[in-house]
Amino acid sequence: MSLLIKNGTVVNSDAELLADVLCEGETITRIARNIEPPPGAEVIDATGKLIFPGFIDPHVHIYLPFMGTYSKDTWESASRAALMGGTTTLIEMCCPSRKDDALESFELWLSKAAGRSACDFSFHMGVTKFDDTTESQLREIVRRGISSFKIFLAYKGAFGVDDTELYRTLKLAKELGVIVTAHCENETLIAERQKELLAAGQTDPGQHHESRPPRVEAEGVQHLMTFAELTGAATYIVHLSCEEALKEALAARQRGVRVSVETLIQYLLLDKTYAERPGFEGAKFVMSPPLRDARNQDILWEGLVNGHIQTVATDHAPFDFATQKQMGRDDFTRIPNGIPSLEERVKLLYTKGVRTGRLSLPMFVNVASTQAAKHFGLFPRKGAIQRGSDADLVIYDPNCEGVISAKTQHMNVDYSAFEGWPVLGRPEIVTVRGEVVVRDGAFTGTTGRGQFLQRKPSHF
Ligand code: URP
Ligand code: ZN
Ligand code: ZN
Repeated sequence: MSLLIKNGTVVNSDAELLADVLCEGETITRIARNIEPPPGAEVIDATGKLIFPGFIDPHVHIYLPFMGTYSKDTWESASRAALMGGTTTLIEMCCPSRKDDALESFELWLSKAAGRSACDFSFHMGVTKFDDTTESQLREIVRRGISSFKIFLAYKGAFGVDDTELYRTLKLAKELGVIVTAHCENETLIAERQKELLAAGQTDPGQHHESRPPRVEAEGVQHLMTFAELTGAATYIVHLSCEEALKEALAARQRGVRVSVETLIQYLLLDKTYAERPGFEGAKFVMSPPLRDARNQDILWEGLVNGHIQTVATDHAPFDFATQKQMGRDDFTRIPNGIPSLEERVKLLYTKGVRTGRLSLPMFVNVASTQAAKHFGLFPRKGAIQRGSDADLVIYDPNCEGVISAKTQHMNVDYSAFEGWPVLGRPEIVTVRGEVVVRDGAFTGTTGRGQFLQRKPSHF
């Protein structure tokens, strides 16, 4: 089966050009002007449309046992929502608890996605303890196609590692050429500040920020940077939210520490006043690190433009407002952390990044697709429109106008943090390895066709 997409503007991370794209089977085979359709090919007219490589979200939670509950999506619902939003590859955090076995956990997380996902997927292996059995299991997990780890410096007693475990994880990662993604916040400071705030009767969602202000995150980054420097491991700071933390990462990079930075669509567009909304409405906006003072948004956008920040992800973590978020009605420390956004990242980044003139089209592709592919061993199979790459394509209609609403979303959660926001453009046609999975903005994909992407370490 072949697919010929004609007359669109093909956008890669380094250039855009008017061209036709020919896909044969699962692969892009030609990019040129005026390609003649092979016999039997489906021809799509993309005049006036933008053609992007499938977008990659390198930080999502779909199966997540967390804070006494489970995140709401399944791989069926999450992969469908991702594809409707133009994201064709998801990298999920595999997050065992400290009492769980690493290899069994990897197999559990894989079993939740395999045969259920409509888009391609991989995992960052969460290292939530490092004992005598962990090392050999991590080596085995890497042999099975995982080339990135995840560590948490927060969430004391749940996912958080101590300094010995951190050091050993980074040393092993360096030896194996694995990149270590890290949640950077100082867990002791958080625990102490939470206790103080609750003792003072400060229980509302707005206090979440007060319990983990920017310095708490900056200390986490600075801490990780020290360990990265002394081990030589490649590191990737997930969900960086503020200037203070960015400064620590840049200072470390300046002295040769191997560090990349991810921010989230939420931090670019929302600020801490959302979490301060009255009537417990703020709980919808509780995530960690917290939404920050609005002044940080320009700094993060600027970081994307000047290359200080490499990727924009979502940290998608869906918890219902009607039930799960209510667990923290009298105590903000019990509100399950997370803001769902996997479906809307691409449209929001296009609307608020490209159409405002902040990001060029290639920059947009770079931060929402190509850099994730490069960091996590998927490039050039993913993240590019070039001969030999997977035929993961998004034909984007830039003239379509829409409004975000929980009523129309495909994520399995009862609210949207962006309710009522107008967006420009929509993924009109989306393909995964040559199969049309979204057509005229409607889902046509196949549950279970998504492949586990085996990746090889590259960060030696
Ligand atoms: O609030 C967040 N970020 N929830 C998901 C878990 C994590 O820290 O990534
Ligand atoms: Zn995190
Ligand atoms: Zn996360």
